[in-house]
Amino acid sequence: MKKDTNKADGRNPGNLPTREQIYRNSHSKFRKRRIGSVNKGVIVFAILIIAVIMVSAVYIIGNRKDSDKENSENFLPSETKSEEELIEKDPYRYEQVDNSCVHSGYLILVNYMHEYVFPDESSRVNIYENKTEKYKVSYSTYELDKQVLSEFGKFSEEFFDAAGENCITINSAYRTFEDQGQIYEDYVTEYGEEAAKLYVANPGYSEHHTGYAVDLTMIFDDGTAKALKDYDNLAWINEHLVSHGFILRYPEEKYDLTKINHEPWHYRYVGVPHSYIISEMNLCLEEYTDFVKDYTCDGQVMCITQDGELVYTDYQETPDAGYEIYYVRADESGSVTNVPVPKDADSYEISGNNIDVFIVTSLKGETDLSDGIKIADKSNQKSISQ
Ligand code: DAL
Ligand code: ZN
Repeated sequence: MKKDTNKADGRNPGNLPTREQIYRNSHSKFRKRRIGSVNKGVIVFAILIIAVIMVSAVYIIGNRKDSDKENSENFLPSETKSEEELIEKDPYRYEQVDNSCVHSGYLILVNYMHEYVFPDESSRVNIYENKTEKYKVSYSTYELDKQVLSEFGKFSEEFFDAAGENCITINSAYRTFEDQGQIYEDYVTEYGEEAAKLYVANPGYSEHHTGYAVDLTMIFDDGTAKALKDYDNLAWINEHLVSHGFILRYPEEKYDLTKINHEPWHYRYVGVPHSYIISEMNLCLEEYTDFVKDYTCDGQVMCITQDGELVYTDYQETPDAGYEIYYVRADESGSVTNVPVPKDADSYEISGNNIDVFIVTSLKGETDLSDGIKIADKSNQKSISQ
């Protein structure tokens, strides 16, 4: 009979654990103990870590929210604020002008180099149908720009009051391309090609295409006539035409620039105050359109104060009243240009130069130019090219 060896050897009292059980238990206990011990430590440690992490996370998130809040309160609004401030400080508002308008306006330069670009729509009116009795016109078909005719009409009133007769006569006004070609040919026939070149522009290059130019003469009621240059008080005529925006377009000694001989009969409307500046500075339009390019909307602006003084000032320190003049280059990157116009201007005009820039003329308040303009600082005249 096989004996139970454990029982048989007496060393196993029956309910005592076997070596295997002890080993298993011991390992089991050990394992449990170790697990229990690790678990508790890890859990405590993990809890601590998690707690630290959570506290940190809450702190960081809290801080970030605070900092975001600070940013949103300080950075973004301050950027918006400064942009608003910039707009508020900017003395200009912006007018979108089609770049094709560089070829229109009362300051366009039309000469042997710069051809006139005929517009689709004209601002011309028939002179005879719109004239007063204070002046004459050679042909009933003649036309002029409406504003130009209106200013000439005002001049003629003054002339009539001073001279006592309506002898001042518009002898030539708007001309078509074909008209100019015919005049050129007639001149060649009568005086030869050399003379024609001195007095008649090539078709397309005549100021008469603009409707802003007039040739003046004297025709008296008895049928006699006299050239303007022979009139007793030509200086009076010139002075009063200037006060209505006209300039003597081809003065003596400017042939090198105009390529047209002196024409004491040909006046061109450029508008006030440009007519005063051009006349007072003894410029031709070629020089003036160049001279204006010294004055910009963000640098020095040419101003005429309410007392009629011509000054050059920083764009942020312009006088409280008077004219401001500056140029803006046409924006070649697109088809329009944002032209700055003084926000506080009561009126303004934007003219092209027929080449590459817009010239802004603005007026605020009242300006008395009855005594002409005074040029205190003549130093800027050095920039005029001769
Ligand atoms: N007499 C001027 C120059 C013209 O023909 O336009
Ligand atoms: Zn002419």
